[in-house]
Amino acid sequence: MISFHTNHRLLLVVPVTVFTLLSLGIAWVPAMHQKALHADAEAAPVPAEVARGRAIYQAEGCAFCHTQQVRQDTRRPADAEGRFPPLEQDARYGAPSRPKDYGDQDPPFLGTGRTGPDLQNVGVRLPSADWHYTHLFDPRAVVPRSKMPAYRWYFHGKADRREGDRRVLLPVAAQERLGKGVEVWATPDAQALIAYLLSLKPVEK
Ligand code: HEC
Repeated sequence: MISFHTNHRLLLVVPVTVFTLLSLGIAWVPAMHQKALHADAEAAPVPAEVARGRAIYQAEGCAFCHTQQVRQDTRRPADAEGRFPPLEQDARYGAPSRPKDYGDQDPPFLGTGRTGPDLQNVGVRLPSADWHYTHLFDPRAVVPRSKMPAYRWYFHGKADRREGDRRVLLPVAAQERLGKGVEVWATPDAQALIAYLLSLKPVEK
């Protein structure tokens, strides 16, 4: 009889097979099933600028500090459609997330921690592009005690601005903080990132 403990081939093949089967069964098959279940064939294609902004959001690791999932409170009664209300601490972020919110997202940015607020519906809560530009350029110019890093490399000044940059309309307090006459120009990358943030709205239907 072949002993599992002395046959090195078996020792390699068995764990690798078990690992592969478990990965397929626990992760891959359910993921593909969910994807097929919630894919929306009629969804409008994502505009190129939003897709580019999404890639920047991913590359910058915004999801390490920001979730995109509003949690539901299953201890309270569901409404007629079977939807639960949001958890009390999530109520300000909007209606609870549903699987179909992530149907066309690869990868979805559910996130694991909230150093900053949830961004699932940020396009509705904060609809001003200029607010977002100012915040991205200098978070403390609009939220004095913010712990968010400044992403200044997505901006130019008066002297080095290029074609395609867009002038940011700074709020009065931010202008005072940065200095009179200072201009902030959002690069196409900043414009794409903010277009992505403004696209974060509840999926209708
Ligand atoms: C180190 C953690 C951290 C990272 C990384 C980070 N943020 Fe933030 N963010 C915060 C904190 C904390 C706040 C709350 C204070 C504030 O509004 O500045 C915040 C607030 C925000 C807000 C305002 C949300 C609201 O509801 O008020 C937006 C929008 C935002 N961040 C976008 C981004 C984007 C886009 C990136 C990546 C380019 C990013 N953040 C990266 C910590 C972070």
